[in-house]
Amino acid sequence: MAELTNPERRMLRTLQTRHGEWTLDEILDKCEWKDQAIAVSAGHGLTNHGLVKTSKTSKKSVILGDEGLKALENGLLEKRIWTFIKDNPSVSMKDISNSFERYESGPGIGLLKGLGVSITGGQFEFDDVKAIDNEIELRTKFLENPSFEDPLVEHFNARKNLIEIVELIHTTWKITHDGKNVPSEALIEIKQIADITPELLQSDDWKDAQFRPYDVELEASMPISGRSHPMQALIERIRSIFLEMGFSELVDNYVQTAGWNMDALFIPQDHPAREMQDTFYLDNPDTINLDKQLLRKWKNIHETGGDTESSGWGGNFSEDISQRGLLRTHTTVNTIQYLAKNPTTPCRVFAVDRVFRKESIDRTHLPEFHQIEGIIMEPGANLGMLVSTLKTFYEKMGYPEVRVRPAYFPYTEPSLEVEVKWKGKWLELGGAGIFRPEVTEPLGIKDPVCAWGMGLERLAMLVLGLDDIRQLYISDLEWLRNQPIL
Ligand code: PHE
Repeated sequence: MAELTNPERRMLRTLQTRHGEWTLDEILDKCEWKDQAIAVSAGHGLTNHGLVKTSKTSKKSVILGDEGLKALENGLLEKRIWTFIKDNPSVSMKDISNSFERYESGPGIGLLKGLGVSITGGQFEFDDVKAIDNEIELRTKFLENPSFEDPLVEHFNARKNLIEIVELIHTTWKITHDGKNVPSEALIEIKQIADITPELLQSDDWKDAQFRPYDVELEASMPISGRSHPMQALIERIRSIFLEMGFSELVDNYVQTAGWNMDALFIPQDHPAREMQDTFYLDNPDTINLDKQLLRKWKNIHETGGDTESSGWGGNFSEDISQRGLLRTHTTVNTIQYLAKNPTTPCRVFAVDRVFRKESIDRTHLPEFHQIEGIIMEPGANLGMLVSTLKTFYEKMGYPEVRVRPAYFPYTEPSLEVEVKWKGKWLELGGAGIFRPEVTEPLGIKDPVCAWGMGLERLAMLVLGLDDIRQLYISDLEWLRNQPIL
C-alpha cells in the first residue's frame, strides 16, 4: 500500500473507532482539525486508496432572497395592503396609490386579486375575510421558516427575489473492510518534511528525514492571479508592433475643437459629412479659442480653396463653429495637430486611443471606442507604402490576408477602406488615404502624408472571437479569467 499522509493516518485511525457513517463535523471534532479542507483532502486520499468510501447526497433547501428578507422584516406586500383595506373597508384604489409606493401598489393589488379581492368602480370587494387572513398567515409562516417540502415553494418561486432554491451537498465517510484491517502501527503520524529549505540542505538533517511525496495527479484548483484586461493586453501588443516598425506613439486629449477635429481635415461645415460622425459637443467648454491666423487659413481653404488648385466648398465658413468644444470623434484630430506642430520633419507616428460618437449601443457599436491611428510623412511617401505598412501590421497581428477598396473621406485622396479576411469573410476594419492639399497646405506640410484610422474593438472581436462588442466592457470575471494570454 502506498504511504499515507499524516492527515490520512489520523483520519483512518479515527474512523477505525466507529464503523458507521461519519459527517464532516464529526471528523473535524474527533481529529481536532479546524480546516475543512484538510479533512476533505484526507477523505479523498483514503477513498483513492480504497480504505474509505465517500458518499455524497444532495438536498435542496430554500433560503430567502433580497425581497424575502425585506418581507420578513416589514411584512409581505399583500399583508400590508390587506391590513390597510381590512381596517378601512371604504378605501379606494386611489388611497392605495397614495399610501404605497408606485412599484408596490400594482403588484400588491395583483396579489390580493389572486386571494379573492375584487375591485368594482375603484372600491374593493371581498367575501371571505377568514380565508384571505389564513392564506396570508401561511405565507408569513413560510417566510419565517422556509422549507423545500412546503407546497408554497412553488408560489414563492414565481415571485421575484423572494426565495432562492439552493442545493446543499452533504458528504459522509465510512471505513471499508480494507480500512478496518490497516494495523495501528501503520497509522502513527510521522514527521515528514514538506518544504525543502536552504537551512535543511545546509544541515545534515535531510539525510535521515522523511519527505512528503508530491502527488502530481491530485486535482488542483486553477490559480487565479492578476492579469491585464484582454483589451489592455491587445493595446500593448499593437503598441509593440508599431514600435517595432519604427513608429513613435502620440497621446493627446479627448477634448478638442470642431476646428481641429473637422475643419482642419476639410470636412465641410454645412455638409452631411459632418453628420457622418455623430458628435458629442460639449457644454463646458462650449468654446475653445483658436489662433486667428489659423482660422483665417481654414476659412480661405473652405470658401475658395486658398492657394491649392481646389475651389473649396464655397459658402460661408463660421469661426464660431470652428471653436466649439467637442469630444474627439476620431484620433485623426491628434495626428493632424502633431503635423501642424512639426510640418517639415519626416515622421512615423501612431496612436491607440479612445474616441466618442453618438452611437446607440448594440452588438457592434459603442459610443466610446478606440482607434488605431497612424501617419507616415516623408518625401516620396505613397499609396504603395501605405498599403504595405497596413499589410505588415495586420500580418503581425495574425491576419495575413488584407485587401483595400476605394473609399471616400473628405480629407484624403485617394481614400481606401481596409479589409482583412477572417473565417472566409472580408471584414472592414478602417479607413486610410493620403492627405489632400486642402489639409496639408494651410499647415505648411510639404511632404506627402499617408494616414489611417482603424477600429480597435473590431479587431478585438476578431482576436478574442467575440460576436458582441459589449462583452469587452462588462467585467465578467469568469470570461476575463478564461481569456487567452495575448
Ligand atoms: N478618421 C477616419 C475614421 O474615423 C479614418 C481615417 C483616418 C481615414 C485617416 C483616412 C485617413 O474613420
